[in-house]
Amino acid sequence: MAGKAEKSVSIRRAVPGDAFRVKKLEIDAGLSPWPAADYEKEAVRDGSLFFVAVLKNNDSLSGFILVRLITHIQRYDKGSIPLAHAELLNIAVSSENRRSGIGRRLLLEAVKHFEADTTNLNLEVRRSNNSAIAFYKDFGFVEVAIRPGLYRDPPEDGILLSMRINK
Ligand SMILES: CC(C)(COP(=O)(O)OP(=O)(O)OC[C@H]1O[C@@H](n2cnc3c(N)ncnc32)[C@H](O)[C@@H]1OP(=O)(O)O)[C@@H](O)C(=O)NCCC(=O)NCCS
Repeated sequence: MAGKAEKSVSIRRAVPGDAFRVKKLEIDAGLSPWPAADYEKEAVRDGSLFFVAVLKNNDSLSGFILVRLITHIQRYDKGSIPLAHAELLNIAVSSENRRSGIGRRLLLEAVKHFEADTTNLNLEVRRSNNSAIAFYKDFGFVEVAIRPGLYRDPPEDGILLSMRINK
């Protein structure tokens, strides 16, 4: 059953004018900082799946997700085929709105917009970020590797999580 906040939130594409409020969510969530100008660019970039969750009662942003679609060419002896995967670059929900299903809805929205040939969704997360790891595993991600010393400020290992996409 939908939670209380879940019913009062709508998900839409981010626009450049959201960058400032997205930046605030990012800072409040303690994520690695991006320049606000980069969020502006992602809002109009091809292959970028950038969505925000808007609280219907006061129009404030309660969360965002940023996923990038990546296509590369796999070469074989007799030719090559294009392969596509997606990288989850950032996701945050405001602390007062967590555990209301907003993060899950943001992820589902991004997956809905994958290309037909997108095979995997990958991401990296700090080893100590237990709530995010629980969130991702609940969604279906599995651990595939540890990346020693991936993060700085403070230094920490990263865990690579991946999820197979069947469209
Ligand atoms: C990770 C994050 C985006 C999850 O968003 P959310 O809206 O709170 O998540 P949801 O309500 O959709 O949770 C879906 C499920 O994930 C799991 N989950 C989410 N948060 C959890 C937590 N703190 N502890 C255990 N399980 C959790 C639960 O199974 C939950 O379902 P339930 O509430 O019915 O039990 C949010 O915690 C956040 O913004 N964290 C700070 C930023 C961050 O760490 N981002 C990830 C960087 S890699």
